[in-house]
Amino acid sequence: MTEKEWNMNLPSAVYQERVKAETLKQDAAQQKIVFMLDQLCKSLATYQPAVHSAGGMLGALKSIWQKPVQPPKGLYLVGSVGRGKSMLMDLFYAQVPVQYKIRTHFHIFMQETYKRFHVLKQRSGKGGDPIPTLARELAQKAWLLCFDEFQINDIADAVLLGRLFEQLFALGVVVVATSNVRIKNLFQNRPGADAFKPFIKILSQQMNEVELNAAQDYRLGRSENEQRWLIPCTMHNKEQLDHVFLRESHGVPEKEEMLLVMGRKLNVPHAAGDVARFKFADLCDVALGVGDYLALAQRFKTIILDDIPVFNPENVNVIERFTMLIDVLYEQNVKLYVSAETDFEHIYRKEDRRSFFERTISRLNEMQGQNWGNVARAV
Ligand SMILES: Nc1ncnc2c1ncn2[C@@H]1O[C@H](COP(=O)(O)OP(=O)(O)OP(=O)(O)O)[C@@H](O)[C@H]1O
Ligand SMILES: [Mg+2]
Repeated sequence: MTEKEWNMNLPSAVYQERVKAETLKQDAAQQKIVFMLDQLCKSLATYQPAVHSAGGMLGALKSIWQKPVQPPKGLYLVGSVGRGKSMLMDLFYAQVPVQYKIRTHFHIFMQETYKRFHVLKQRSGKGGDPIPTLARELAQKAWLLCFDEFQINDIADAVLLGRLFEQLFALGVVVVATSNVRIKNLFQNRPGADAFKPFIKILSQQMNEVELNAAQDYRLGRSENEQRWLIPCTMHNKEQLDHVFLRESHGVPEKEEMLLVMGRKLNVPHAAGDVARFKFADLCDVALGVGDYLALAQRFKTIILDDIPVFNPENVNVIERFTMLIDVLYEQNVKLYVSAETDFEHIYRKEDRRSFFERTISRLNEMQGQNWGNVARAV
């Protein structure tokens, strides 16, 4: 296909169509990124990494005689919440003329990567190194990886990712990512940060970091009349949530349900049709993780959470789990109804707050919109 033929489908064309249709507001900062995404689409249209070129004798001969093709640099889209990073990446992902591509939330990617890592580790036995196989498998599945919300949670992630990405890039994989954190700050001020420095260097070499300074947080100002965040945790508010439970269950009787998550059982004490209800502590103050939240988000369209307290800043695990839960529910477009001691801007006091929580607040704000969860999010 010539450049002219698929010019029509470049991200900029789609962006303009949406502006015209008034589903998007024209935004100069977004526009700038859109042109960079156009360029990347064009470079990727003619790029073929070695790991995906024709094999056999001919392929082998070719690889001896031809200079290795330099992969185009990916893009690392950083900026504050609600600026349109994910929207732009989704738009790019839908248009990019690459067959072997994956778009995933980074939490989910990590989850699957650990799972596969352990299987390969068992297979390769003591002293075996599963990373090269892991990288090759992944690169064969997709050589364009688009990650929403790139983040490094702990030293284990940092070590695994450092080695994995080094090999993925060596195989010619291209990465596009959105994040709230600059590359150089990904693992800042944490124990073991020095060990992470080579990875930061690789990421900076392989991706152009660009900041999206869009004019506004597009999530703000979307809330309608429906109250989904009820304050405080009184009997009255719990009864309101009983009504929501009944309404959303569409007449299906309530029962206890058991979900299987990676061979473990996850108990859902109150389930009815597409709605489930939990106490905050039973979801966020126990050893559950992203896999459990994902299983819930995929099984239920509506989740009701009772008794969200004001967070104790010392109890970082609970706060991080709540953040993870909201990330997953947001990503899966789940409707969330809660009773809480106070509004979501104050459950984690501003003076104690770690920066990741700004995203949670921004998302919770969007999730209060009347249409949230009723229609699939536009890609
Ligand atoms: N130019 C725009 N006009 C109207 N709505 C927009 C525009 N840009 C983004 N939005 C909408 O604003 C919401 C937030 O955008 P998006 O999720 O892409 O932000 P983000 O930068 O990824 O935020 P976060 O860092 O929290 O993930 C989305 O529903 C998106 O469709
Ligand atoms: Mg986003």
